[in-house]
Amino acid sequence: MIDVVLGLQWGDEGKGKIVDVLTPQYDVVARFQGGPNAGHSLEFNGQKHVLNTIPSGIFHQHTINVIGNGVVIDPITLKKEIEKVMASGVDPRKNLYISEKAHLIIPTHRLVDAASEAQKGEHKIGSTLRGISPTYQDKIGRSGLRIGDILTPNFKEKYQTAVANHKLLLDRFNHSYNLAEHEPAFFEAVEFLKQFKIISSEYFINKLINEGKKVLAEGAQGTLLDIDFGTYPFVTSSNTITGGVCSGLGVAPQKINKVYGIFKAYCTRVGSGPFPTELHDDTGEQLRKQGFEFGATTGRPRRTGWLDLPTLKYAIMLNGVTDLICTKSDVLSGFDVVPVCDAYDINGARVTEIPYNFNDAPIKPLFKEFKGWSEDLTGLRKFDELPSNFKAYMEYVEEQVGLKMSVISIGPDREQTIVR
Ligand code: IMP
Repeated sequence: MIDVVLGLQWGDEGKGKIVDVLTPQYDVVARFQGGPNAGHSLEFNGQKHVLNTIPSGIFHQHTINVIGNGVVIDPITLKKEIEKVMASGVDPRKNLYISEKAHLIIPTHRLVDAASEAQKGEHKIGSTLRGISPTYQDKIGRSGLRIGDILTPNFKEKYQTAVANHKLLLDRFNHSYNLAEHEPAFFEAVEFLKQFKIISSEYFINKLINEGKKVLAEGAQGTLLDIDFGTYPFVTSSNTITGGVCSGLGVAPQKINKVYGIFKAYCTRVGSGPFPTELHDDTGEQLRKQGFEFGATTGRPRRTGWLDLPTLKYAIMLNGVTDLICTKSDVLSGFDVVPVCDAYDINGARVTEIPYNFNDAPIKPLFKEFKGWSEDLTGLRKFDELPSNFKAYMEYVEEQVGLKMSVISIGPDREQTIVR
């Protein structure tokens, strides 16, 4: 069987830490979508590690880590990541497997991403500029390059064909660039990757499942950034929901067992797009400071706001969440009141479902307010020890979404986790 862990908001829910906590129960951790736009932070033994493409099980030497076919890989970023992991004493040559069908991000994909964003001006998506969208566009347009291609004798030819297409785009965008600056590092990284296990990951994973091995599929970004169900066009270019596991790893739906849905006790978003509960005041700033809400990949300050139940319920429905996990609960200490949005007012109507015109509708969040708490939660290890005001807040969320919390995370360290 395969279990899934994914984000229920706009990404940055703290999935990396949760995967790291869950990993000892699994034989395999596999990424199924996204690419180096992700930044999964893990913290243990007082050290912080950020992973972009490598699954979060890499620091457990006995865990098999798979980068699935649904992922897009930038060899340059992956090489840097691998080198950092190696510096911490783990050798990914032993436990990292890469799908031959994962698509390659080449330097011109990044250039096209930057040019396309620049052209959009104030309508920009706020992309991480990692080349994600152009790479998935080439995949769907059937002109992409895949990891397996690096092992073929005519790889350079295929590369040049892709580059020629991208140059036409860059000319159209009137974007100046110096490709020669990027190519040596790219080809060096391509050579570097050849020493890793490049495999047919769909056979590999299904074989492991049939042998009774436990597999954990690790999502990146979040449900509200899903290409189909997110706040389109302010989304990423892949299916971030449970459905993406089937196409991103090659496993059948009936093999999926548990779905761990992760949400932060409040909301954040990086980049553009709708965010009904966003705070533009000192309270928003306080959330950003207390939660250290700055992008793990880009360093950008994240937009902050209160928990939004209509989107959370939508995400739980789309993913078939079986186990709910709340992260960064400790960040909510010190606020006089903690509001939670349980519906929207749109032109005087009370709305609880996400409308098609989510981006443009005059949405006013309707809040229920809870009394705050000032206790530091980071040292607590049992649900019963949590402050009663915090418990009242959590119990309301549970009642509204119809699921109990399985895990409450109260700090970045592996140890700072309350399992119910
Ligand atoms: P892209 O995936 O780089 O094209 O970016 C598209 C949108 O998704 C932008 O608003 C990004 O800020 C957002 N995004 C992409 N990856 C992540 C992530 O891992 N965490 C949070 N937001 C992300």
